[in-house]
Amino acid sequence: MQIGIIYYSQTGSTKKLADGLGEALGIEPIDISKPHVLKNYDMLFVGCGTYNDLPSDMMINYINNIPANSISGAVIFMTNATGKDSAQLLVNSLSAKGIEVYEKHFVCPCKRWLFKSKRPDNHDIVRFKKFGTKIVKALQQ
Ligand SMILES: Cc1cc2nc3c(=O)[nH]c(=O)nc-3n(C[C@H](O)[C@H](O)[C@H](O)COP(=O)(O)O)c2cc1C
Repeated sequence: MQIGIIYYSQTGSTKKLADGLGEALGIEPIDISKPHVLKNYDMLFVGCGTYNDLPSDMMINYINNIPANSISGAVIFMTNATGKDSAQLLVNSLSAKGIEVYEKHFVCPCKRWLFKSKRPDNHDIVRFKKFGTKIVKALQQ
């Protein structure tokens, strides 16, 4: 079972969640803005922030350009100021690639635009680890 984590993080908030889950699953998260090789995955965790009510366009463009049939399923995680789920465009891009998107998304409220915040804090990271590991365990059964 191939599990992967990809993220785009402009200010480091989403990276904190990606790193936390990576530690829990023993996976090195992939920062899509850096050189890397994307393999084939049974399940890919896909994370980014919200910008102007939409998922980061860096992530949307990335998904739109991945080869077809390389990813079976995806789980979305996002950080943003409001904590509202703004993942729809990302769901659409993943679905258009034939990738099945897990119905629940993990959305973590954190930085309020440019105002500093400690979130995602340890509590958020623990919650995300539990969310992610539960999905992976269910998939492996
Ligand atoms: C230019 C800009 C626009 C943003 N637009 C929104 C928005 O529309 N809705 C929201 O909830 N958060 C918004 N945010 C807050 C980011 O989503 C939040 O800081 C997020 O954690 C950034 O994640 P990252 O550092 O991993 O990229 C915005 C932040 C910036 C800098």
